[in-house]
Amino acid sequence: MCGIVGYVGRQTALKVVIDGLRRLEYRGYDSAGVALVSDGELFTERRAGKLANLDAALADAEPPQSMTGIGHTRWATHGAPTDRNAHPHVGRQGRVALVHNGIIENFAALRTKLEAAGHELDSDTDTEVAARLLEAEVAAGADLTEAMQDVCRQLEGAFTLVAVSVDDPDRVVAARRNSPLVVGLGRGENFLASDVAAFIEHTRDALELGQDQVVTITPDKVAVSDFHGNPAEGKPFHVDWDIAAAEKSGYDYFMLKEIEEQPKAIADTLLGRLTETGRLQLDEMRLSDDELRAIDKIIIIACGTAFHAGLVAKYAIEHWTRIPCEVELSSEFRYRDPIIDRDTMVIAISQSGETMDTLMALRHARQQRAKVLAISNSNGSTIPRESDAVLYTHAGPEIAVASTKAFLTQIVACHLIALYLAQVRGTKYGDEITEIVGQLEQIPAAVTEVLAALEPVRELAREMGEARLVLFLGRHVGYPVALEGALKLKELAYIHAEGFAAGELKHGPIALIDQGTPVFVVVPPKGRGSLHDKMISSIQEVRARGARTIILAEQGDDKVLPYADQLIALPKVPTLMQPLVATVPLQAFSCEMAMVKGLDVDQPRNLAKSVTVE
Ligand code: F6R
Repeated sequence: MCGIVGYVGRQTALKVVIDGLRRLEYRGYDSAGVALVSDGELFTERRAGKLANLDAALADAEPPQSMTGIGHTRWATHGAPTDRNAHPHVGRQGRVALVHNGIIENFAALRTKLEAAGHELDSDTDTEVAARLLEAEVAAGADLTEAMQDVCRQLEGAFTLVAVSVDDPDRVVAARRNSPLVVGLGRGENFLASDVAAFIEHTRDALELGQDQVVTITPDKVAVSDFHGNPAEGKPFHVDWDIAAAEKSGYDYFMLKEIEEQPKAIADTLLGRLTETGRLQLDEMRLSDDELRAIDKIIIIACGTAFHAGLVAKYAIEHWTRIPCEVELSSEFRYRDPIIDRDTMVIAISQSGETMDTLMALRHARQQRAKVLAISNSNGSTIPRESDAVLYTHAGPEIAVASTKAFLTQIVACHLIALYLAQVRGTKYGDEITEIVGQLEQIPAAVTEVLAALEPVRELAREMGEARLVLFLGRHVGYPVALEGALKLKELAYIHAEGFAAGELKHGPIALIDQGTPVFVVVPPKGRGSLHDKMISSIQEVRARGARTIILAEQGDDKVLPYADQLIALPKVPTLMQPLVATVPLQAFSCEMAMVKGLDVDQPRNLAKSVTVE
């Protein structure tokens, strides 16, 4: 949440910063602002609303030529999304400007102190307090780096701060605690950002920062320290995707592009996992075979869509490894005093690698000495860095706020982990594992087939634009698919939608069904025997109460035909892989619904990607 950019070098800072903010706007779009240092003056401009409003203001403002600047795109926490609360915030003399992501928890106490010292604050934000403190330190003789270290020692909570000062025109200084920040390493220029997407068109070499670190960039140098000024090291990494991956490439929305990219994302996530002898290898698995053999319980922690991937994974993990597996919302996990010890494996699933709820749950698990394995799509992010092991999904940058390709690759990553555990623990024979990996390798082709047949689904969305309530039913691994279908519709089209385990329907939710209520049903493959038949009974029950049924079932499933107002035929795949094909039409349906309603598909209201507050 909130996107931050800092630049110092030889290019026009304003352009670099604005281009960077454009790539980070998915992190928040309540307001945007920039600050530039030029000829002993600080120039700032900020506007409520999307970046386009800032663009318009800048067009009238005649900003100075400058090679040092910072920028911010906001997801509001403290203070309404107004011009006044937009970042950057400046010190009392207007000599220091600061942008911030996170929440400064002791801001009220600091504010009271400042007010007692005669400060009249201009905004309702927690950030302005830090800007005032920072400028006061500089005024007292500290350089910007020392001032930042000093201020950070006074702050509590989660923060990334990035600042410039007219007294230090060739440097940008940043700090991080529990919020994302990466450094982009250029030649004669350096960058700071919440996410590598902001500087990917300039450099793919980056530096990961640790917890409680301050970084100072000048055109030719990057220096890292802790909050006490002791020198520290960042961890260099190379970004394995390029600028093209972060562009819309002719699509109207990133989400449309990301839905289409799913076959490649799955194939890339599977790439190189089997050795020539057919053994599964997970290079990033830093846990020893002995540690993996000792595991007696798995707990998956995740939020939102990633939680749904975890729900699918439970079926595969328990089936292939016979290890009991629980799935828990990260935000609930540590508050129930979970029973975990050194033989518990906690799998933290997070596309962004920065979700605060998951990070806090992970830390709790590690304190209890559990082994933590992260599944993430973001190199250089906090959750993989703080985990004992990591498996990266290779989905490429996911920029649309609503998650699509990350979801499918998270499921694939979970399947790989389950199979790897089965290999190490001997609960599956080697040839069985090779066969299942072979089936996974067929999934990109199956998803391509689904993508080619989406027009009727889109047509359905266009016809259902007025729907006020849509229900989704599933059983077994189809249940998380139903939850995901409902989540997509809520967040994109702002329609009330609910996903249910079909068997639960008769215990209450069936009362929602009225004449014409649309009900999507994810039907288990026929091979699932009684489960398939039970699902047909559920379909009959909702139809008897007037529901309009949209049935997702595998090709050749003639038994469901009489009960389908609309049929979406899915390629035949093994049951545990059905979510990988069944979710895709639901993504396309919600996306089309949002477009029909004229909504911004990539930036739904009230949301932001990478939720870095608890
Ligand atoms: C929904 C969506 C969110 C995220 C959730 C977790 O489309 O994108 O529900 O899945 O905020 O995010 P990560 O995976 O980054 O931890």
